[in-house]
Amino acid sequence: MTEKVFIVGGTGHIGERCVQQLLNNNVHVTLYTRSPAKVQAKFPQAAIVEGDYNDLTPLEKGIAGHTRLFLLIADLVNMPHIKGAISAKACATGVKQIVDLSSLAVTLPWRSTFLGNTHRLSEEAILASRSSAVATADSITTGYVALRPTMFMTNHLWIDAQTIKNEGVLRHTADPDELEGWISNNDIGDLAAIVLQEPIEKHGDAVYEMTGCVLTPAQRIAALGKVAGREIGYTKISTKEKYDFLTTKMGMPHIMAMDLLGLFKGVNTVSVGLSVLLGREPESFEQWLEHNKDVFQ
Ligand SMILES: NC(=O)c1ccc[n+]([C@@H]2O[C@H](COP(=O)([O-])OP(=O)(O)OC[C@H]3O[C@@H](n4cnc5c(N)ncnc54)[C@H](OP(=O)(O)O)[C@@H]3O)[C@@H](O)[C@H]2O)c1
Repeated sequence: MTEKVFIVGGTGHIGERCVQQLLNNNVHVTLYTRSPAKVQAKFPQAAIVEGDYNDLTPLEKGIAGHTRLFLLIADLVNMPHIKGAISAKACATGVKQIVDLSSLAVTLPWRSTFLGNTHRLSEEAILASRSSAVATADSITTGYVALRPTMFMTNHLWIDAQTIKNEGVLRHTADPDELEGWISNNDIGDLAAIVLQEPIEKHGDAVYEMTGCVLTPAQRIAALGKVAGREIGYTKISTKEKYDFLTTKMGMPHIMAMDLLGLFKGVNTVSVGLSVLLGREPESFEQWLEHNKDVFQ
């Protein structure tokens, strides 16, 4: 492959997996990061552009010559503006495919959630910037692939790990036998890497929903208990208790905490076709826990 892939968000849970898969296949990769030392230590073969969302000048210069872009933005409030601006620069410099980390929350009723709305506005900003680029440059349309994952398994690392480890309990608002959808960061990173290496025409403007497995809290504590080497209990808590935990204990902003009280309630079917895209079954919660068991022991 002679193409060059520019990666925004390549040092996080999803991006790292995507970058590693591309490097394993000898794809030329450039990471946009605030922490070049972190990238050099982890991916010595990768090219680096140092920069931040606040000033996209280094990105504008660095993205020239790249044919594809992986776009993951962590700033949820300013996401639509940042994604629109980066996508405009990418289209203007001849990038032929954008693979964007969006969210399944886009499919929830219009403006019913903060997370759904910010990801939806971001998808629209990317589409709008592409239309402007085509109108002005008369260039070949850039393919835009949106990945729409459900709730990340990695949320266990930052929301639930402390209570599981210190108190031996998982606390959540769902009934013990209520099904909820989950996705592994490895599946998201792998699918991004697959799309970025396959023909651009194959995926076109695809939207890929990503729910890898559905689990009840009772099933989650059974799996957590196995890796922790002790029994983990489940306590169903009220939405007020969860809200207080997210805001007071974790410092989460109000609008995000409101969403996390039950963001994907009722969205509980595995995405048809995900195993076709991945060329394997999506990762199970047990498999994901095996990679992260140290956190829960
Ligand atoms: N959690 C969920 O259930 C869920 C569900 C659906 C979608 N999502 C999406 O997933 C995203 C999070 O993905 P993740 O877990 O892989 O993230 P993560 O592990 O927190 O990694 C964040 C990445 O963003 C980069 N970054 C952060 N601030 C930056 C800045 N100011 N300038 C430049 N780069 C910056 C970091 O790069 P450096 O530190 O190297 O600069 C890092 O590579 C969310 O933003 C959301 O869109 C989440």
